[in-house]
Amino acid sequence: MSNIVVIGTQWGDEGKGKVVDVLATKAHVVVRFQGGNNAGHTMVVDGKAFISHLIPSGILHKDKVCVIGNGVVVDPGVLIQEMKHLQDNGISVEPHNLYISENTHVIMPYHKLIDHGRERMKGDRKLGTTGRGIGPCYEDKVTRRGIRFCDLIDPEVFEEKLSLILHEKNFYLKNFLKSKTVDEASILEEYLPYAEVLRPHVTNISVLIDQAVKAGHDILFEGAQGTHLDIDHGTYPFVTSSNTVAGNACCGTGIGPTQIHGVVGMVKAYTTRVGRGPFPTELHDEIGDLIQERGAEFGATTGRRRRCGWLDTVLVRNAARINGLTGLAITKLDVLSGLKTLKIATAYQYKQDRLTEFPSALKVLEACEPIYEELPGWSDDITAVQDVDDLPENARAYVKRVEELVETPVQIISVGPGRKQTIVLQDPYDRS
Ligand code: IMP
Repeated sequence: MSNIVVIGTQWGDEGKGKVVDVLATKAHVVVRFQGGNNAGHTMVVDGKAFISHLIPSGILHKDKVCVIGNGVVVDPGVLIQEMKHLQDNGISVEPHNLYISENTHVIMPYHKLIDHGRERMKGDRKLGTTGRGIGPCYEDKVTRRGIRFCDLIDPEVFEEKLSLILHEKNFYLKNFLKSKTVDEASILEEYLPYAEVLRPHVTNISVLIDQAVKAGHDILFEGAQGTHLDIDHGTYPFVTSSNTVAGNACCGTGIGPTQIHGVVGMVKAYTTRVGRGPFPTELHDEIGDLIQERGAEFGATTGRRRRCGWLDTVLVRNAARINGLTGLAITKLDVLSGLKTLKIATAYQYKQDRLTEFPSALKVLEACEPIYEELPGWSDDITAVQDVDDLPENARAYVKRVEELVETPVQIISVGPGRKQTIVLQDPYDRS
């Protein structure tokens, strides 16, 4: 029995969905533990693309149990739409293969209005959120005014909680954000039917996962976003509102740290970022445009163009420590094919100092210039390579150098979006 966490080491969009999908073939249970429908995983099966925002990617596999943890925030309308989309495509989504924690917080219409209203008010200083109400929902969780799934599925409790909070929300929306307000009757009309659909899926997932552990089943914990969007460890305030790091696989589900046996860090072979915030290795030239185009770097959730740059190992090393990585999965290596020279940032120059650790103060980070190491590129198409030894020598050297700089073994290399375009050097589930 092995329980593995998969997280992003950069600013999200590292291609976790595909690797989770591949690893899910081994796991019995696949669990999301944070974030919400700000995330988006594109999975390609038999040439057909699926985008999932909330349901763990494991759903595409028959006989897997998928779980949405208490650390996730869920927009019930979006979840139901996603379930329906999968069902319409012949994928089974039933109360026995999709569970939602009783403690998961519900995204309400006012959360979305507040998210949009605040971004609008900030103007040029906006964060570039996904506008899905994620931050305002986590905010209510922490200030103890949130509505959980156990409240949603009890109409009496739901109505009571809603009517208590609406006064305040409408006051804030109308008078501070100059936004439209929400109406209790319309929310009830929309949300009570959601509760009916989702009630059979709601359970105590801590008990469920514990039973799976006791039965000797393998569990995969699927992170969303990336380490540098973490509320504590990311480029604050240009971060999301949850802990995206591996430690949250425990808090966000109700299991203990002793149940985690490995942490795989997803590393895109270059770096991307959506939304605002510092990005030391960002490219503002034709190479950046080429990577963006070739890598189809558009957000799966908002469709925004992702900012692109060279691989930054200061960032990835930071993630290796914070998450306690036991292995790396390098994705989109094929996108770099054809570039004559590749650059990897190994440190930052800050005024007179050479920094090897990722700074917390944005002012410092914004003034950092990456110190690059140059490596020769390769021209061959690598999208059909199945064995690491068949990669061009320079591609192997690039991977090896990442492994050295991050001091973590590379376990998986992805050379294209399909399930088969995956080279497994070391199976994360193999603990021998
Ligand atoms: P929020 O999570 O919608 O509040 O957005 C906060 C920041 O996190 C913004 O910069 C978003 O672009 C970024 N973000 C949120 N989710 C993702 C993701 O799944 N991938 C990449 N960036 C994300």
